[in-house]
Amino acid sequence: MPLLLGVNVDHVATLRQARYALMPESQNAEPCPVQAGLDAKAAGADSLTVHVRGDRRHMQEADAMRIRDEVGLPLNFEMGVTEEMVGIALKLKPDFACLVPEKREEVTTEGGLDVAGSFDKTRMVVARLQDAGVKVSLFIDPELKQIEAAGETCAEMIELHTGCFANATGDQVEVELARLVEAAKAGHADVLQVNAGHGINYRNIARLLEVPHLAELNIGHSIVARAISVGMAEAVREMKALMAAYTG
Ligand code: PXP
Repeated sequence: MPLLLGVNVDHVATLRQARYALMPESQNAEPCPVQAGLDAKAAGADSLTVHVRGDRRHMQEADAMRIRDEVGLPLNFEMGVTEEMVGIALKLKPDFACLVPEKREEVTTEGGLDVAGSFDKTRMVVARLQDAGVKVSLFIDPELKQIEAAGETCAEMIELHTGCFANATGDQVEVELARLVEAAKAGHADVLQVNAGHGINYRNIARLLEVPHLAELNIGHSIVARAISVGMAEAVREMKALMAAYTG
């Protein structure tokens, strides 16, 4: 199976909100995350990710609905484990939902979800989403106790948090890579689909491809940043070309 690319277009909305948060209906509101999704699709993106946060700092519910209706790629809805977000997910009916921890003061999702520490609540939300036909992924740190707990929730997928690997330097790179390798093997042995995401860029992806059993990478910031220079389609094509080296 080829390694799939899920493109997170949140930061297209981040840029729009920087200017138009108070004028969402403005005829001048740009850039458009739907257009970014269409461009990513044309260049070979396999799915799109949107994260509607509690504070609506980037994606709005209306963006998520339009991306679902107008782009025609599988949609991964990243969501905090809250009643409000479950309600939105049940309306949106994305193909997948990825449960993440969410803190208002964080710049981006900082750590993985503590599935082991919030098992009953997580399992209940997983079941509610699955009952609505939504496949569920849990965004977790590469720790065996979290993988074991994720398996017990009956979620279909885990997304391994690659942030520590992405930020590592020197010898720490090997340490973080080894954690991801071990976690991917454990997830695979537990019959979970293993995805990965956070902080992946055009430089660190070469080492990340040493991790076995990966099905999909979810990448946002680096692709949107690269798109400023070369356009969204070319940014996606370049990432897909790097991912083609994956041997599993
Ligand atoms: N996966 C998850 C669960 C995330 O929260 C994020 C950040 O929104 C990403 C992937 C993408 O991370 P990045 O923007 O660093 O590529």
